[in-house]
Amino acid sequence: MTPPDVLIAAARSDPSLAVLEGFHALKHAVRFDATIELAVTANVRAVVALCSELAPDVSESLISLLREIDEPSFARCAPRPPATGVVTVAVRPAVDIPAALGSSGSAVLLEDPRHHGNVGAVIRAAAALGAAAVFTTGDLDVWHAAALRGSAGLHYALPVATVEGIPDTARPIVAFHPEGDSLSRGIPANALLCLGSERSGLSKAVLSRADYTVAIPMREGVSSLNLATAAAIALFAATTG
Ligand SMILES: C[S@@+](CC[C@H](N)C(=O)[O-])C[C@H]1O[C@@H](n2cnc3c(N)ncnc32)[C@H](O)[C@@H]1O
Repeated sequence: MTPPDVLIAAARSDPSLAVLEGFHALKHAVRFDATIELAVTANVRAVVALCSELAPDVSESLISLLREIDEPSFARCAPRPPATGVVTVAVRPAVDIPAALGSSGSAVLLEDPRHHGNVGAVIRAAAALGAAAVFTTGDLDVWHAAALRGSAGLHYALPVATVEGIPDTARPIVAFHPEGDSLSRGIPANALLCLGSERSGLSKAVLSRADYTVAIPMREGVSSLNLATAAAIALFAATTG
C-alpha cells in the first residue's frame, strides 16, 4: 500500500486534487460537501476534541474520515505540519462558469494575483459575504495548498475558477482602482468586482472594459491597500449597499 505521505506529495501536483492543511480547512470542506480522498492525523483523539469544540455539526462524518498514522509519517505530510494536526486530500470540484455568473450576489475577478495567501483570504471573505464566485486570471494555481490555508478550505463554499480575461457576462463590471470614483457612491447589485495584481494593479484592458471605476478612500500619502483587504471592503460595500 502506498504510504499516506507519498499519496499527499503526489496530490500536490495533481490538477484534479487539493491538499488541505489543518483542521479548519477539513471542517469547511466537509461542511460544504467536498469529496474527501484521505484525511490523516497522528492524534485522532486531539482531532475528535477539536470536532466537539469547533464542528459538532459535521463531527460524525469528519471523524469517520480520519486515518491515524505515526508521528514521523505525519511530519512528512506537509512542509509545515499544521498545529491542528490533520492533512487532507480532497477532489477539486468542477465549476460551471456560466451558471456561477448567472447566480445572484457579487462575483470577484482577481487579475493575475501573485500571492496564494491573498487569493485564499479573498475566497474566505467572499464565502463569508455570500458572493456568487471568485475568478482569477493568470497562472497562479488557486487550488494550491497555500491558497487553501488562506481560505481555511472555503474554496468549497462557492465556485472558484481561473478564466481567460473578463468572462462574457451581463453583470456590471466594476474596476477597483485607487484613482476611481469614491466608493461612497455605491456599487451596483450583482456586479463583477475586478481587482488588480499586487504589483502592477489592473491592466488597461480591464480598466477599459469597466462600467464603473471605484476607489476605496484612503488617507493622503497611502498609495494602496493590500489586495485581499481591498477585496473584502469591496465585497462588504457591495453586500450592504
Ligand atoms: C496592492 S493593490 C495594487 C497596487 C499597484 N501598485 C497599483 O498600481 O495599483 C492591488 C489591488 O487592490 C485594489 N486596491 C487597492 N487599494 C485600493 C483603493 N484604495 N481603491 C480601490 N482599489 C484598491 C486594486 O484593484 C489594486 O489593483
